[in-house]
Amino acid sequence: MKRCFSLAAALAVVTLAALLSSGAVVACIDVGFYDTTCPSAETLVQQTVAAAFGNDSGVAPAIIRLHFHDCFVKGCDGSVLIDSTPGNKAEKDSAPNFPSLRFFDVVDRAKAALEAQCPGVVSCADVLAFAARDSVVLSGGLGYQVPAGRRDGRVSTEADALNNLPGPTSTASDLVAGFAAKNLTVEDIVVLSGAHTIGVSHCSSFTERIYNFPTQPTELTRS
Ligand code: HEM
Ligand SMILES: *[C@@H]1O[C@H](CO)[C@@H](O)[C@H](O)[C@H]1NC(C)=O
Ligand SMILES: *[C@@H]1O[C@H](CO)[C@@H](O)[C@H](O)[C@H]1NC(C)=O
Repeated sequence: MKRCFSLAAALAVVTLAALLSSGAVVACIDVGFYDTTCPSAETLVQQTVAAAFGNDSGVAPAIIRLHFHDCFVKGCDGSVLIDSTPGNKAEKDSAPNFPSLRFFDVVDRAKAALEAQCPGVVSCADVLAFAARDSVVLSGGLGYQVPAGRRDGRVSTEADALNNLPGPTSTASDLVAGFAAKNLTVEDIVVLSGAHTIGVSHCSSFTERIYNFPTQPTELTRS
């Protein structure tokens, strides 16, 4: 499968394979992109994720969410993986991401395994996209082919994360508008939110709505 795009779009396959990008550069992504340049790329990522998942199954939801938070900010370009530097707070240190995004180290280990095997070939963005697919499979979901060839971004800012990532208090119309900005539909929101059948949420993300919501069912009222 070959997909060419003006650094935009790719599939809205089953779950989070939706790649969102912006920019004018024409680029192509392909299934089997590394077949000749790094044939073990997908296997090495899968092995790394599987080993980490075997130790802590929380790795799977964590990596799926990492991929979503990468893709929603400047497209699936690995920008969520970039560290802050003096004078620039990166996406990963913004409120939607810190401290709730977790298991960055698993992605780092997969990338390190690839650098040992085929230095400078496989993008961080592709490592994360492969790892998210592997996380879905390890969680009992369906597998899917991941077109690869994403280029890594070099820009990562707190502001871009704050402006693009939905929050726990977003309204339905906020969510519809935010997804529409990525050419995703209401149906896509519903399907992609199926990711929330696994993983954790901190109490701070929802207690306010359980205990203070104006129309809450009385059985949820805490006295
Ligand atoms: C529709 C808008 C969305 C909102 C408002 C939202 C919000 C949230 C919030 C508040 C949390 C809990 C964070 C915490 O307290 O630690 C969370 C967790 C999570 N989200 Fe979403 N999310 C959305 C869409 C998505 C999508 C599209 C995906 C992936 C396809 C996704 C995957 C996950 C996963 C897997 C977790 C659990 C993470 C973990 O266990 O570390 N979410 N989300
Ligand atoms: C196993 O999981 C625990 C809990 O997440 C973590 O503290 C530990 O570092 C993990 N060990 C390995 C080898 O990944
Ligand atoms: C959404 O689709 C329009 C029309 O095809 C395109 O111009 C725009 O770049 C797309 N936006 C994203 C974020 O992919």
